[in-house]
Amino acid sequence: MNFKNILQCAEKTPLVSLDRINDALGTNVVVKLEKFNPGGSIKDRAAIALIKKAEIQGYLKPGGTIIESSSGNFAISLAMIGAARGYKVIVLVDPKTTNTNISLMKAYGAKVVVVEEKDDTGSYHKTRIKQANELAQVIENSYRPDQCFNILSSYAHYESTATEIYEQTKDEADAIVCAVSTGGQIGGISKFYKEKKSSCKICCVDAFGSGIFSPETYPYKIPGVGLGWTPRNILDVNNIDYVFKIHDESAFIASRLLCRHEGILCGVSSGAVLLGALKLSISMKSTRPIIAVMGDSGERYIDTLFNEDWLYENGIDTTNDIFHFKKLINRIDPPQKSPNIYSNYRDDLIKELKVPNTTITHFPKIKFTKNHGGLHDL
Ligand SMILES: Cc1ncc(COP(=O)(O)O)c(C=O)c1O
Repeated sequence: MNFKNILQCAEKTPLVSLDRINDALGTNVVVKLEKFNPGGSIKDRAAIALIKKAEIQGYLKPGGTIIESSSGNFAISLAMIGAARGYKVIVLVDPKTTNTNISLMKAYGAKVVVVEEKDDTGSYHKTRIKQANELAQVIENSYRPDQCFNILSSYAHYESTATEIYEQTKDEADAIVCAVSTGGQIGGISKFYKEKKSSCKICCVDAFGSGIFSPETYPYKIPGVGLGWTPRNILDVNNIDYVFKIHDESAFIASRLLCRHEGILCGVSSGAVLLGALKLSISMKSTRPIIAVMGDSGERYIDTLFNEDWLYENGIDTTNDIFHFKKLINRIDPPQKSPNIYSNYRDDLIKELKVPNTTITHFPKIKFTKNHGGLHDL
């Protein structure tokens, strides 16, 4: 099949059963490999949907500039879209952003601005978002997709990721597990399944130190997971059945084991998701698939996750034994359950961070496309 442009290659990512790991552990986990999206991660889905909507609404005109705060996959997706659609892209990152990610953004032609000022939580999220919003106010014909506050992000996952999993599994999955940061994935998937098939358990993995489901925040190492507050894209925390907190080291080790024992090269958040899915499969005694959404590829972490010196410096065990999974799974605390999941929605930040009025803060009733959100007519 010929595609009209690279963006049409997004979605329809494969589901792959973990034969060797499932055999060894008596589990039933199937991974959804989002690295097969053209920009290399699940973030392509939300990024394409947001830009598509901005074009339809006239927020973004030919030759315009996309401005976003992101240190990783979302920025890379936007940089790719900018190149494919002829937009300039400015990305605000912070000193924690890896050189690999910055190089990828630049490869697609994005301009990268490093924000050095920390916010009141000791992270860079708020200062990055505020500066991006201020920049958008002064640059003409610019658009802020605003992945953190724009509800279209969870809407994209409702229409795209969740629908696709439902169709691929013929509605026979026992549970779906994904990682959480801006909340797009878990918000969209959990809303879809609560409406369509509430018996399917919806779970997310978060980092210890993240403030999404806990009032206590502190630094952690898992990239792409966690936030300082509960993002609005988690439309209703009560749609989530379980939240697993995963230790930094466990996520790194699990991701390496996945590569060694299945030949599946994924990022660090995927290691965390895999552990949540294995734990759930064991505790539910699942007979039907547990779908684990693997957000990106391990190539993005070649200097950390797959660098023995970095692992040694960071005290991360490089064991390769498949049965090490058992130890990691036993380390996982019982999950937080709905409706007792803590939430800390910060709608006050919409004003404080000068969120633009192009950001959609309510879940839309309309659909983008006739066929439940295929992103393909961009
Ligand atoms: C690889 C990866 N997994 C999971 C997530 C979390 O997704 P969301 O921001 O939709 O909650 C991210 C977010 O950056 C990510 O990059």
